[in-house]
Amino acid sequence: MCGIVGYVGPLRADEVVLEGLRRLEYRGYDSAGIAVVSDGTLACVKKAGKLINLESALAQESLPSAHTGIGHTRWATHGAPNDRNAHPHLTQENSIAVVHNGIIENFARLRHELEEAGYEFASETDTEVVAHLLDSIYDPALGLAEAMRQACRRLDGAFTLVAIHANEPGVVVGARRNSPLVVGRGEGENFLGSDVAAFIGYTRNAIEMGQDQVVELHPDSIEVTNFDGSIAPINEYYVSWDAEAAEKGGFEHFMLKEIAEQPQAVSDTLLGRINDEGSLVLDEMRLSDDELRSIDKIVLIACGTAYHAGMIAKYAIEHWTRIPCEIELASEFRYRDPILTRDTLVIAISQSGETMDTLMALRHAREQGARVLAVCNVNGSTIPRESDAVVYTHAGPEIAVASTKAFLTQVVAVHLVALYLAQVRGTKWGDEIRHHIDQLASMPSKIESLLETMEPVRELAKSLVDAQAVLFIGRHVGYPVALEGALKLKELAYMHAEGFAAGELKHGPIALLEQGLPVVAIVPSPQGRSVLHDKVISNIQEVRARGARMIIIAEEGDSEVVPFADVLITIPAVPTLMQPILAAVPLQVFACALATAKGFDVDQPRNLAKSVTVE
Ligand code: G6P
Repeated sequence: MCGIVGYVGPLRADEVVLEGLRRLEYRGYDSAGIAVVSDGTLACVKKAGKLINLESALAQESLPSAHTGIGHTRWATHGAPNDRNAHPHLTQENSIAVVHNGIIENFARLRHELEEAGYEFASETDTEVVAHLLDSIYDPALGLAEAMRQACRRLDGAFTLVAIHANEPGVVVGARRNSPLVVGRGEGENFLGSDVAAFIGYTRNAIEMGQDQVVELHPDSIEVTNFDGSIAPINEYYVSWDAEAAEKGGFEHFMLKEIAEQPQAVSDTLLGRINDEGSLVLDEMRLSDDELRSIDKIVLIACGTAYHAGMIAKYAIEHWTRIPCEIELASEFRYRDPILTRDTLVIAISQSGETMDTLMALRHAREQGARVLAVCNVNGSTIPRESDAVVYTHAGPEIAVASTKAFLTQVVAVHLVALYLAQVRGTKWGDEIRHHIDQLASMPSKIESLLETMEPVRELAKSLVDAQAVLFIGRHVGYPVALEGALKLKELAYMHAEGFAAGELKHGPIALLEQGLPVVAIVPSPQGRSVLHDKVISNIQEVRARGARMIIIAEEGDSEVVPFADVLITIPAVPTLMQPILAAVPLQVFACALATAKGFDVDQPRNLAKSVTVE
């Protein structure tokens, strides 16, 4: 979703801002622009399409050498992704330039009011309203930051705004309500970014922006105020990862790098979870044991891939703790008036910690008195900040839009939460819990060896480059894996792909089957819960009988599936509940290879955003 960069300091602003925009590309966007201020004038260049278009425009019409600038990558909401609607938006006299992430909900009313006052609009965006509104408020004696505070008090909705004024070289002003904005503190220079990736090449000292706050940056000072003008405390932190972690490190795509990083990411997520007494500890669990014992219902909320991790969590939590558990899409949650009490634990799962649907759902849950635990990958992001407790996944920065290592670590983290609840509530013995932790601890090496066997999966993907559709089936935790496999293929290869609960196939989707249609089945472990295994084998027979091409993902040594597989992909043997951590890997590789074979951009698929900060 939209990326924002701001810079003030001794360097050439257009260069620093462009570099920041490059680092934010992964968020997903469809146009980009930069504005700088020097010698009392604003200059701006913006272009539809990828940054390469902006760079060619800058090559023809270069910006003046300036030391104050802002930039934006836009993911269209109001108005088509064309040059006119691209940000920054300027006032008629080119006095103010504004970039924005989010949605100004009362923009139509404000636009009408400003048009009545004589302002002419050049775009269809809600953002342009802010430029004219700032212009109508601006008083040179009070400055841009004061105009921003006053303007923000008039805006409804979610927004990050960053602005510069022709009269104020050396000043960048930012504002935040519900959308992300982080300050980077440098030496004699300061930065703004939608996330720290924007300035990580320059500084690792960051400042969290709170809700309803305005920041005024000068090269040597940072002042944060609330919308009412009162001074806000500065909450500074050090970013633990560096610019190199956000680079491709020799891989062709970020997605390939992130798939390869999964053993490390899982291992980091498990690090330090067992104390000297051998008990499971979750440092960031700020809910007391008494509070956890009083929970009588758990509701998991998430979007996209994180939702699939939530579906897997339901199986683990109910199995190990016997607490009734629901899973719901965050975007649906608050609109159905869910039944929540103080004894409900809501678990919000989000890689970015900024997904607006999830944030709004968690706010609703807290308003109803429920306690909220976040499972999140980005330190200091909004969702964990607004939750009662947080368990961080330690996947490191995930740049590719399609989630891979974050998904695996989310599944690991929710297993840890389930086991922790079982420990506190006494539904499992300590040695049983340690046994499960040991099994989780064996995952990194299993993922590593699995990754070494992926060549046939890549070959399979190439052979399916002309397939019209691919179906995925699974039961129990294999069902969310099937959904995730299909989602990856939709996101990356723009193919018709559907995941089904294998037993549900015969109730309708079976009509889709025809000769040669590829169907991927995720087969549960034959050990222990063999009824489940046998049922999936029956479903495979139903599919084969209709001429489908059967691609089977099964445990090593599962000889029963061999006769039914046109293509067999084996994964190391693990208990069924943990199988998703392995079974998802070949599906990631498959989708990535198929999209590459089709010539698509796997890191930035069309229409998608890494972090969706609008509802
Ligand atoms: C977007 C991304 C998905 C992601 C979802 C939830 O739609 O494209 O890959 O799964 O948001 O993101 P979150 O950051 O909340 O996990």
